[in-house]
Parts: sequence; structure tokens; C-alpha cells
Amino acid sequence: MNDNHVGIDIDGLESVTSAPAAYVDLGTASLVSLSLVSGKPLQVWIEYDGASMRLEVTVSPAGKPRPAVPLVSSIVNLSSAVADDTYIGFLGANGAASSSHYVLGWSFRIGGGREPDLDLSKLPPLPSSKKTMPRLLIVILVLAVVLVLILVSGAVAVLVKRRRRFAEEEEDWEIEYGPHRIRYKDLHAATRGFRDVIGAGGFGTVYHGVLRRSGAEVAVKKVAHGSRQGLREFVSEIASMSRLRHRNLVQLLGYCRRRGELILVYDYMVNGSLDKHLFADNKPALSWERRAKIIRDVAAGLLYLHEGWEQVVVHRDIKAANVLDADMNAKLSDFGLARLYDHGSKPQTTHVIGTLGYLAPEMSKTGKATTSTDVFAFGAFLLEVACGRRPMVCDDNLDSPGLADLVLERWKAGRIMDAKDPRIGKCDEADLELVLKLGLLCSHPDPRSRPSMRQVVQILEGTGTVPETPPKDLGSNNRLFFGYSESFDEFATVFLASETTTVTTQPSSSHSNDEQQELISG
Ligand SMILES: *[C@@H]1O[C@H](CO)[C@@H](O)[C@H](O)[C@H]1NC(C)=O
Repeated sequence: MNDNHVGIDIDGLESVTSAPAAYVDLGTASLVSLSLVSGKPLQVWIEYDGASMRLEVTVSPAGKPRPAVPLVSSIVNLSSAVADDTYIGFLGANGAASSSHYVLGWSFRIGGGREPDLDLSKLPPLPSSKKTMPRLLIVILVLAVVLVLILVSGAVAVLVKRRRRFAEEEEDWEIEYGPHRIRYKDLHAATRGFRDVIGAGGFGTVYHGVLRRSGAEVAVKKVAHGSRQGLREFVSEIASMSRLRHRNLVQLLGYCRRRGELILVYDYMVNGSLDKHLFADNKPALSWERRAKIIRDVAAGLLYLHEGWEQVVVHRDIKAANVLDADMNAKLSDFGLARLYDHGSKPQTTHVIGTLGYLAPEMSKTGKATTSTDVFAFGAFLLEVACGRRPMVCDDNLDSPGLADLVLERWKAGRIMDAKDPRIGKCDEADLELVLKLGLLCSHPDPRSRPSMRQVVQILEGTGTVPETPPKDLGSNNRLFFGYSESFDEFATVFLASETTTVTTQPSSSHSNDEQQELISG
């Protein structure tokens, strides 16, 4: 009838009679239901009267007085069910589930009259779950300990990973530059884990970020670097350079150093670099007014680097890609970065850092960046902006004429304005012509013939003059670096891997060194 009943079964599982387990409480005379699986001992009386054939079953919790009324009773003739020789026993089962059943005491009587109740105090206690409890407890404890161990080691792993992830390198000598250091953790948060790539130049990848504390938008540049010694000098330069302030220079806000990695933080410029605007087909061409303003801005920034500060700063990598276009001012970025690669190089090797087409020819000999090599690159930049073309055609033919040669040919033919970017519409032609000629003057192969940045600014302001016809020696062998490449074939390796180029010239032996000297002088 249910899973908690008392029944009388004769030779089968079908009960003759049954009732839900319960007993009549003597005190209240009410029927109280009883759980058969409570784990508490019960008393059961089973009585049979052969004359009346009445079988009665009474149940009550152990310790309670015997109820007056039996729970179930039935008239059954047991003569047919019980043999003359019979055993009596108890059987406990609970289907498939494991369970324990205990008989703590019992008594049996045949032949009329009632058997006196058992003295419960003399019975053994129920082998309660006390014994199984400790085992369960041990299992729980072991599980808990294992769980705690897993949690703790997990937390430690996370902490270690976090530490490693945000690990920085800092040495004693850097403490004096402390204020310029920005924590890697802050940069990681600012750039949302270095996700928003806004540029990839020769020196590394640039990410957009927002500093949590100030809310300032920044450009974060990651520069891979292995040389520790070079880095030290460079960091001291960064520290001093972050004091350089000019409206045409991108402000360096700080740096962070990690193993093999230098991270520089600059002001963020919404419009991006100039070369994107110059050469993108999907954008309207820049007007000459805009270009003229940018040129003058860059000239002012460069003049400040060369002359406006307590020490001369050579930019070393002037090109349109390093000019950032802010709304009002164009700003020069990445100044001095090339120097990072200059420090700590092997003495017998000369690294020339810069970008093809902007490298002054003498750099292949001396490997030395000067204000004059900056002026050369600025000249290439002027031509690039005015002509809307890159200074070097990027193909395998290293002998193909550079932009400066093409413009010079037009100047010699008296048609210099043919070189202007056709996408520039109506404009101040005199100004454009001035810029083209100035670009060529700056690109003079002889460094002594190039104007200084002060002279350049004066010419751009209209207080200086450019010659009507090209100077005779201009462009004589004006083949940029590649004019020398024929004689350097054995000694020069040119890496065209990235936008920014490292040219290494390395004398291989004393014997060939002499040869090389001859070739150069020849
Ligand atoms: C009980 O059953 C036995 C054997 O089946 C029979 O001899 C006897 O008469 C029965 N008793 C009653 C009271 O019916």
C-alpha cells in the first residue's frame, strides 16, 4: 500500500491485511504515525490465538507502553500454513539498497497467556551510526583537505602567473628616473591587455590605451630589446627627453621596462600618422594649405630638437610615418628611438638606422647620425609631402631613381611643378615650388651644402631664399645610399624586413679592408 506499512502475509507477498505503521498513544488515545526507517528501535508484538484463529500485530516505539489496540489483526487458519515441525526466524531486506536491520532482543512463548514485556534496559544498545560516523567524517575531512589543497595551489598558481605576467625589470640606476616609470600592470589595464593595435612600425607595435588614473588617451609602444647596456643609456635619454616639450613634438609620458622589452607611453593622436593620409586612396587628398602647415610644424619641432634645448637631439628617423597629425598641429614622434639600437653595438660594426630613402649617403660611410642627416631626411619628407610619393620605390631594383632624382630632373628642365602631387588641386604654387626646391636642397649629397634647420625654417617663413636654378653639384651622384652600394656589395647587407631599416657595414678582414678603402676613395 505504501513504503511504510505493517501487513500480514501468508505464504505470499500479497497481504491478507495491512495498515500504515502507527500506534495508539495511551496518553492521548490518538493514532500516531510511526516511521519504520527512522533508525530508532521499535517494539513489535505478534500474537496468535489458535481457537479464535485471530492473528494480531501491535507496534510501538521502544520505551512506550504497549498500545491497547493492535495495529492489524486478521482471522487466519495457520494450521494449513505452518507445518508440525517449524523454525521461527527474522528476515530483513530493503530491495537493492543496502541497509542494516538489528534484532536487539526477542522472546517466544507457546501455550496461552501473555509473555511479559522485555526489560529494555537489559538489551544491548542499537549499534547506531556512531561507528560509521567517524569513517564518514574521515572521508569528509580528507575530501576537505584535498579541496583546500587544490584551492590553495590554484590560488598560488594564479598569483605566480599574475606576478610573472606583470613582472617588470628595474635596477638601482633607474630609481632616479622613477617618476617617468609607469607600472606594467597599469599599462596592461590601460590597453585592455594590449589588444587595440593602432600601428606597427620598425621599432615595435603601438597600442591604444586609456590611463585609468587620469583617463588620458595614450599610445603605448612596445619595443623589443635585448641589449641591457644600450637600454641603460637609452632610459636616461628618455628621462631627459620627457622634459622636451614642444607643441610640434609628441609628448613622451613615461616608460616601462620588462625583460627584453621596453614600453614607451606617448600622447595619443586621434588622426594617426601622416603617411596614411598621404597615401590612402579611400581618403580625400590633403589640401596644400594643410600640407604646408604640417611641413612648417615639423620643421619647427625639428629645429627645437636641434637647437632649442640644452643638448642637441638628433631625431634619426624623420619620415611621414613618424609625423602625427593632430587637429591643430602636426607633431613629430619617435625622436631618438633609433638611438636605442645604436648603443651597445659591436665596435667593428657600423649600424645605420633609419628608413630607406631617408638615409643620407654619408651615413653608409660614417654610420653617424647628425643634425645634417636629419636635414637630409627632412628634405625627403618635404618631397614626399609635395609629390604625394614615397622617396624610394619599393621594388627589387635598387638602381631605380629616387624621388629626389625625378624632381631634380624636372627642375633642371624648368618644369619643377610637374612633380607636384596631382591630387593637390588649386594651391599656392609659389609655396609649393619653394617646398620642392627646399626639399632638393636638403637632399644634397654633400652634408656641408645642406641648410641647417634654422635656415630651413627661415626659408619656409619667407625670410630666406632658395636659388632659382639647381646648384651644380646637387644631384651629382645623388643616388642616396645606393650610389655607394656597387662598391659595397661584399660588405653591405641590406635588410628590408621592416619599414625601418638597419644597414650593417662590416669590414671582414684587413686585406679586404684596404680594398674597400680604395673602392670608396675611387
Ligand atoms: C483449520 O485447517 C485445518 C487443516 O486445513 C482443518 O483441519 C481445521 O478444521 C481448520 N480449523 C477450522 C477452525 O476451520
